[in-house]
Amino acid sequence: MQKITNHLFLRALRRQVVERTPVWIMRQAGRYMPEYRALREQAGDFLTLCKTPELACQVTMLPLQRYSLDAAILFSDILIIPEAMGLGLSFVADEGPKFARVISTAADVDNLPNIDPEIELAYVNQAIRLIKHQLANKLPLIGFAGSPWTVATYMVEGQTSKQHNKIRSLVYAQPQVMHKLLAHMVKQISNALLAQIDAGVDAVMIFDTWGGVLADIAYQEFSLRYMAEIVSIIKAQKPEVPIILFTKNGGRCLVEIANTGCDAIGLDWIADLKAARKIVGDKVALQGNMDPCVLYADSEVIINQVKLVLNQYGTGSGHIFNLGHGIAPDVNPEHVQIMLDAVKTYSPAFHQQSAVV
Ligand code: CP3
Repeated sequence: MQKITNHLFLRALRRQVVERTPVWIMRQAGRYMPEYRALREQAGDFLTLCKTPELACQVTMLPLQRYSLDAAILFSDILIIPEAMGLGLSFVADEGPKFARVISTAADVDNLPNIDPEIELAYVNQAIRLIKHQLANKLPLIGFAGSPWTVATYMVEGQTSKQHNKIRSLVYAQPQVMHKLLAHMVKQISNALLAQIDAGVDAVMIFDTWGGVLADIAYQEFSLRYMAEIVSIIKAQKPEVPIILFTKNGGRCLVEIANTGCDAIGLDWIADLKAARKIVGDKVALQGNMDPCVLYADSEVIINQVKLVLNQYGTGSGHIFNLGHGIAPDVNPEHVQIMLDAVKTYSPAFHQQSAVV
């Protein structure tokens, strides 16, 4: 499958000159869109949407039909890998994901299968081929997976957790079990990402939603180290595919994240974008980081906050505008348009040739 090479988004990821700041939105195809809610209703449930390539393709395209965005992101989920490993995933309305079987011992880890993404996740790769066909090389497509740590939190806790006490207990009480589990997940996740790349995605993003619940040193040992392994595996085989690492609450370890060899760091809204740029220098691009809650405010506030984020990054390339986390389900879709228009109106001034650093 042909890859795009010179699109705005991909150039920004490589810190090459761009004429304006590219923008896309985490969870851009989601419940804030009435079109999405209608399709999910029709499909019956969320997992059916993920597992039916034609529907996953249709959902991926929904935000692109409504807005002018600079990248598409595959409609899927980070939990389909443990689902493919037979842990029994369901999404209970208003409660989020639930696993029927959880991991707590070394024997549980030993019993986990290796998955072949060309078989168990064939529906993902098929969705990617359909999406690439529809995009017709006009927009790049982002593939993704969860980080080994973040996916493991669901495999150990069985659901979304606030405290993550079970898995944080395992980290200290049985670190060897955790390391075994994380090493196993590195294999599954890198194989799944390589299959997504073979099917046609132009960039990949690793979501480490829960790395930030660990102490700094533990984050580096149990989350970042394993993301770094995935980066090395992908770079060894597909050096041309940009990799974005997003750790929510990862702002305290930016030097270490940049040292993994990734191309860009996704920042949550807590992070100071200006300070982050100083810290990472020209090593990586930065993606983010407007507070998703800004979209509840009126247009004047949204425009001012967009300007603030652009100002924080400053002049020159290497910035991809995004929210600091996923868009909330009850945001007014018209407010998204205001944000996108503001990025397009105000960002070219940050990319005048003379201002490129
Ligand atoms: O960004 C996109 O539009 C791509 C699609 C995408 C989804 N999930 C679709 C989805 C992506 C990138 C994800 C990643 C994901 N999934 C993460 C990391 C995200 C981050 O921002 O940190 C996590 C932790 C998950 C696991 C997961 N999936 C949870 C906790 C939930 C329930 C969340 C909720 O708000 O109810 C899901 C379901 C899910 N994944 C939905 C969507 C659109 C909502 C499903 C629905 O009710 O229709």
